[in-house]
Amino acid sequence: MSLQSARHIALEVFEKTLAPGDRAVDATMGRGRDTLALCRLVGEAGRVYAFDVQQAALLETRALLESEGMLCRASLYWMGHERMAERVPAGVKLVAFNLGWLPGSDKGLTTRVDTTLLAVQSALQLLSPGGVLSLCCYPGHPEGQRELDALTELAKSLAPQRFTALKHVFLNAGPGAPVAILIEKTKTPASARR
Ligand SMILES: C[S@@+](CC[C@H](N)C(=O)[O-])C[C@H]1O[C@@H](n2cnc3c(N)ncnc32)[C@H](O)[C@@H]1O
Repeated sequence: MSLQSARHIALEVFEKTLAPGDRAVDATMGRGRDTLALCRLVGEAGRVYAFDVQQAALLETRALLESEGMLCRASLYWMGHERMAERVPAGVKLVAFNLGWLPGSDKGLTTRVDTTLLAVQSALQLLSPGGVLSLCCYPGHPEGQRELDALTELAKSLAPQRFTALKHVFLNAGPGAPVAILIEKTKTPASARR
């Protein structure tokens, strides 16, 4: 296991969670690196739904998937992730958020706490039992800190019978280091465990 960064933790979680035939969501498509990783893991019978508010992200991701022969495994949407329930059927195994802005592009096009919270609530509904929500948070900028604070509160408020929530903090990486939050939907309903 690589503990190098929040994104490395997320990639490990993708690999451990997904199997061929699964459905997954990339809530922040960006340059398509995560979408590509998810497409490889869900295999030919699986599906990846990916969202971004920037048309450039969709075009770049489409070109990347096409060059890797993976475009047929993905549905790409130029649409905010807060609307994912309009396009994604319930029963997804993994939803990934890599928050913030696209490196090298307009920092004003960052994810925002209000829409991120709506999207995460929607994602929690769409997850299948045993499904995982993965969030890479970047508290090194003000909106990123607000997102981390709000997501931490949301995760703490989840019923422990229904979800397991973890926060991975890098203790010696200095202030502003990325933080990984992972939320798993419980496999067995509480009523069946009594
Ligand atoms: C850190 S980048 C994602 C990197 C990407 N996962 C990759 O592998 O290249 C964050 C992305 O979130 C997008 N974004 C911002 N607000 C959004 C929203 N409401 N819905 C979906 N994407 C959004 C930005 O346009 C940006 O491309």
